[in-house]
Formats: sequence, structure tokens, C-alpha cells
Amino acid sequence: MNDQANTAPGAPSGEAPASSRAGLWVGLAVTAFCIAVITYIAVTRPTGTSLADAENKAQVDLGRVTYQQHCMDCHGERLKGKPTWHRTIKSQNQAGTPLNADGVTWHLSDQRLFSAIATGVRVKGEKTKQIHDVPFAGTVSDDEIWALIAYFKTTWTARQLHSQQETTLREMGQAR
Ligand code: HEC
Repeated sequence: MNDQANTAPGAPSGEAPASSRAGLWVGLAVTAFCIAVITYIAVTRPTGTSLADAENKAQVDLGRVTYQQHCMDCHGERLKGKPTWHRTIKSQNQAGTPLNADGVTWHLSDQRLFSAIATGVRVKGEKTKQIHDVPFAGTVSDDEIWALIAYFKTTWTARQLHSQQETTLREMGQAR
């Protein structure tokens, strides 16, 4: 009974046993290794951080202002689309479609959204379509186009965001 008391944890025993010191070094090595692996993945993977970042408030604000100046007349308040957009679908006079979660902008990768806005031509899968009569490149700067896309993203659902990010990463992977 007393034997146990003598070897109880915390009893003064001079140095920590060699095995526990070795354990500490192994622990440190494992931690360092994990950090190295995570850093490697973060650096080499096409990053999750897009040029259009819905979390970047300044960028989103720029997107909102750009939208109000150049897009809102056709695409409606707060990206909601013109109230008549349903009724005019596929007609010559198609009214501006929603760019928020009600629309299908999130089907397009970052790059394709960018080029659709810049050139006026939307490429989706195998299909190419003239969406605007005039390209916006020239009127709207590259930074403003990325900001517009960041602004769209603030309205998408978590699932849409996730899916669109996957599409973007997949296309970036193919492009390399
Ligand atoms: C003159 C009206 C008009 C203006 C101004 C306009 N759009 Fe559009 N936009 C449309 C119409 C109409 C469509 C739908 C074309 C179609 O699908 O046939 C469209 C389609 C789009 C699409 C494709 C949507 C999708 O789901 O595939 C994007 C993205 C888009 N517009 C972004 C913008 C942005 C950003 C601006 C401002 C820089 C803008 N548009 C300004 C009328 C306009």
C-alpha cells in the first residue's frame, strides 16, 4: 500500500523519465511535419481564395457600386433580375436575369463569369451565347469585374458557393 504512494505521479523523482522526453520529441516532430504538409498543400493547390472574395468587404462594396452604375438598369435591384425576366425567357427581348441565388450564375466558374462580363459572350459547357450586345471590358476595369463577382457571391447559398468553387478549381486544374 505504501509502495504505491512512493511512486505516485508527481513524486519528486529528479529528471523526467527518458521515455517521456523521447515522446516529447516525437510529438514535436509530428507537429512540425504536419505543419510542413499543410503549408505544402496550401501553396501548391490552386487556392480556395478566389480573386472574387465574398468575405472581402471593400471588394464587395466596390462590386455593389459598379453594379448600380452599369448593371442594375437591366438586372434589377440587388441582383434580383427584372421583374419580367421569367416571361421573356428565350425571347429576343430577354430582360436581365437574376444574378443572385435565384439565377444560374453560380453554374459558371470564376474565369467564365469574368469572361462573360468582359466579352459579352457566355461559355457554358459546350454552349456559347452572346449575352450582352457590348463587352464591358474597357468600360469596367478588371478589378471591378472581380468585385462584381464577389458581390454576386454574397447572395449565393452555401451549397451554391461550394459547388461554384469546385467548378472553378476543376477548370483551373484542366487549364494547367
Ligand atoms: C442592356 C441590359 C443589360 C445590362 C446593362 C447588363 N446586362 Fe447582363 N444580361 C442581360 C440579359 C438580357 C442577360 C440574359 C442573356 C440571355 O441569357 O439570353 C444578361 C446576362 C448576364 C449574365 C449571364 C447570366 C447567367 O446566368 O448566365 C451575366 C453574368 C451578366 N449578365 C452580368 C452583367 C453585369 C455584371 C453587368 C454590368 C457590368 C450587366 N450584366 C449588364 C442584360 C444586361
